[in-house]
Amino acid sequence: MTISREEKYRKIEQARPGELEELQEQVKNCPWRQTYHIQPPFGLLNDPNGFAYYRGEYHLFYQWFPLGTYHGMKYWYHTKSKDLVHWQNVGIGIEPGDPYDSHGAYSGSGIVKDDELYLMYTGNTRDEEWVRHPYQNLATMDRSGKITKRSRPVIDSVPAGYTDHFRDPKVWENHGQYYCVLGAQRWNETGCVVLYKSQDLQEWSFEGEVGTCLNHFGYMWECPDYFELEHQGVLLFSPQGLEPEGDHYRNIFQSGYVVGRPLDLRTRKLDHGAFQELDRGFDFYAQQTTEAADGRRILVGWMGLPDANYPTDRNGWANCLTLPRELTLRGGKIIQQPVRELEKLRKEEVKVEAVLQNETACFAGFEGTTYELICEFAAADAERFGIEFRAGEHEKTVLMVDRASKKVILDRTLSGHAIAEEYGSVRRCNLDAENIKFQLFVDTSSVEIFVNEGEEVFTSRIFPGPESTMIRFFAHQGSAACRASLWRI
Ligand code: FRU
Repeated sequence: MTISREEKYRKIEQARPGELEELQEQVKNCPWRQTYHIQPPFGLLNDPNGFAYYRGEYHLFYQWFPLGTYHGMKYWYHTKSKDLVHWQNVGIGIEPGDPYDSHGAYSGSGIVKDDELYLMYTGNTRDEEWVRHPYQNLATMDRSGKITKRSRPVIDSVPAGYTDHFRDPKVWENHGQYYCVLGAQRWNETGCVVLYKSQDLQEWSFEGEVGTCLNHFGYMWECPDYFELEHQGVLLFSPQGLEPEGDHYRNIFQSGYVVGRPLDLRTRKLDHGAFQELDRGFDFYAQQTTEAADGRRILVGWMGLPDANYPTDRNGWANCLTLPRELTLRGGKIIQQPVRELEKLRKEEVKVEAVLQNETACFAGFEGTTYELICEFAAADAERFGIEFRAGEHEKTVLMVDRASKKVILDRTLSGHAIAEEYGSVRRCNLDAENIKFQLFVDTSSVEIFVNEGEEVFTSRIFPGPESTMIRFFAHQGSAACRASLWRI
């Protein structure tokens, strides 16, 4: 189906009579609505934006196209929370359609200054010849929650050497100076990150490119983020155009990071180690971090990918955000753990301890569609052990350890409604450990799996039927001791 430009870049007030009501009706009848994840009221959600702690609340916006489940005219939709667990829908945050964001208020970030929340974002525009002109714009939110856009961009051109793929400002402060990184594409169609500097968030000077060792690493880097953690510099970004390599880079686009010595803000050089993927699952992209009130570094990602179709499309909505994760570093690697506040979601608990002997077993109470599950495996001599969840007569999602290859494997071949099959339905990663701990957050149509306290994470949408609720534990060709706790959510 081709959608005309006019249709695609409609604003919400241009909805046809009854169109919004129809979308809302479709959403109401959707079997895959999430219960504790941020999801759009209707329409399409993508990147998290403007994530910041301001006056006692976390503010988290996301890219939103209200009138369909394709990428059209993007708004910022505003949500907020006091605890990172319960989110309140506030409504439209930034509305596009002015001269400097005529074709969308694209991604950006938030920072608190002078008791206001400053939101810096990319204004997407197209001229009569349909040539893209990106602007970097500013809006401020005051204590009453009112958001006001500046009428002029704060960065109004693309420096020589870069194409019109120039977007997604992420701002931070360092010793009273402001800096921002932007995702860019060089004239030779390779991706990179550039750096700007400002005294006041209004006047920005182009400093140049951030020097990395990744000079030919995809054709565009989207959504960069820079921060320091435990005296190390971390650069996150979402490179497009990497070819699959073994277990790596299996999704359409990737998301990952490099870690090294803190960025030298004068030379803009970043000495860093190898690029590492943030997530091993099927649906993760365009993440953004912020600093929590107590100094923790918190990450939220888009549980989706560009150019993918999801079965909820026909129910008038698409995509959700991941749960917030706390980041720490261990041996040059980012460790991601669900924020501890999420324990508030836990309701009744069921527990079990068992030794599995070449069998598949079910235990009382271990079933459901929305829950947190922790299961630990030890003393395993089985060739393969793990769990099947959201399982029924024909459906199952399989998470297991293959001891010979020392891999953790997530298999969604039989998870229900298939998605992005052309990119395969199995994801694997190496994990050399005797004991295995899986922590799963299962919602109606997703799973986030934290392996061994966040050493690896698999984030995926799954679309099983509502009757597929079983959890089965297994050990094949040998035995494994298993201890599990499940909390209903
Ligand atoms: C990443 C992205 C960003 C852009 C936004 C538009 O998913 O393409 O680079 O700002 O989405 O919605």
